[in-house]
Amino acid sequence: METTATQPPPPSSAAAVPATVCVTGAAGFIGSWLVMKLLQRGYNVRATVRDPGNLKKIKHLTQLPKADTNLTLWKADLMEEASFDEAIEGCQGVFHLATPMEFDSKDPENEVIKPTIEGMMSIIRSCAKAKTVEKVIFTTSAGTLNVEEHQKPFYDETSWSDLDFIYSKKMTGWMYFVSKYLAEKQAVEAAKLNNIEFISIIPPVVVGPFINPAFPPSLVTALSPITGNEAHYTIMKQGQFVHLDDICEAHIFLFEHPKADGRYICSSHDATIYDIARLIRDKWPEYNVPMEFKGIDKDIPVVRFSSKKLTSMGFKFKYSLEDMYRGAIETCREKGLLPYSTHNQSNGEKKESTLQSLEKHSDDQEKVLEKRVNGRLDKQFEEQKKELLPIREEKHTNGSLEKCSDDQAKVLLPLPEEKQTNGSLEKHVMINIKTCE
Ligand SMILES: NC(=O)c1ccc[n+]([C@@H]2O[C@H](COP(=O)([O-])OP(=O)(O)OC[C@H]3O[C@@H](n4cnc5c(N)ncnc54)[C@H](OP(=O)(O)O)[C@@H]3O)[C@@H](O)[C@H]2O)c1
Repeated sequence: METTATQPPPPSSAAAVPATVCVTGAAGFIGSWLVMKLLQRGYNVRATVRDPGNLKKIKHLTQLPKADTNLTLWKADLMEEASFDEAIEGCQGVFHLATPMEFDSKDPENEVIKPTIEGMMSIIRSCAKAKTVEKVIFTTSAGTLNVEEHQKPFYDETSWSDLDFIYSKKMTGWMYFVSKYLAEKQAVEAAKLNNIEFISIIPPVVVGPFINPAFPPSLVTALSPITGNEAHYTIMKQGQFVHLDDICEAHIFLFEHPKADGRYICSSHDATIYDIARLIRDKWPEYNVPMEFKGIDKDIPVVRFSSKKLTSMGFKFKYSLEDMYRGAIETCREKGLLPYSTHNQSNGEKKESTLQSLEKHSDDQEKVLEKRVNGRLDKQFEEQKKELLPIREEKHTNGSLEKCSDDQAKVLLPLPEEKQTNGSLEKHVMINIKTCE
């Protein structure tokens, strides 16, 4: 499967000098892939993260090709006013992806809703102060589009979710839907007042191979038929999907397109949870995927998201639903985030062992690894790995890819040789951090 883009044209907003852009939430699932693609295209990228001193959370960025010349890391937090000022000053574009995704937050108002809205507004203020920013691309969410009591057969960019319904039901992810909805609405107005072009991109569930170390939040949803995470079945019930590479390509496409304006759905596939379950059973029969999902009609219709506004401007999707799942499953297996089979597990065991570890984010990754090393299940993973794939030893001393099969190696990124072997990586990271903080 292809994981790198075909050779793109140089950044549009600068004929001679490549544009400088800021990517917030750069270490995350979408952010890190986007950074990789921007670097490939010659952009100078300022990547914001909350903790640039945490090498485990940032080394997938600093190991990227061209990172040593075109990437700098900047410390910024949505909860701190003016935190993004320095990173944004001098940039022509801002890709705003940082967002808290704690669906199980005990204090959703203060941990999710407030930081998302206030952080968004603070970023608009940083852009206004900088006076160099031409365009902000905001990664919003399908949660702003179609969360309402009765699903329509078809959605386009004119649709907005029903906030009263969200607050009354408080379904899985409700605080996230509210946060993105209010942030987008307020930012559109604020950007207009400050003469900044503001584009919203609306991804559905994003699935694919990835380079960040943590288990991506959207894969908690996308892989729920495998993990048995029933709380996420409602999101999958009548789902829409896009490949990680396609969504990142669309971000750049809209940044570079001089006529881009307003909101854009970027969704390539509509499928019900039964379609997804069938796909997984067919291609990965080693997973024990339910034939029935309680309370969900087998004949439930698909709900279509139209990406016509985007495709009519010339954007083309490259990946199939199978590509998305193949990339996601292979990367998760490679990183030790998903077992190679669930056939030996009862449903109870699946929930106890797999689910708990998969849902944790990078802050907890140490603990996840510990569980995997000490737990009964982990031995099982190791045995399954040996049986199913020829393991090729890789000497990526600083990388996350200690071992991988030939097939998996194709899915994952090539890491620059010199950075993996000669120990200069850590120094490079420290230099970047010191200069930029
Ligand atoms: N994945 C999807 O299916 C999907 C679908 C629709 C929309 N989106 C949108 O796409 C964007 C990226 O999502 P993702 O899937 O890549 O999630 P992710 O991997 O969790 O990345 C989100 C990033 O946000 C950062 N962040 C969280 N709280 C922050 C705060 N208070 N201040 C600064 N940064 C903070 C985290 O940065 P640190 O590295 O500093 O911890 C994290 O890397 C989000 O805006 C999300 O709403 C995603």
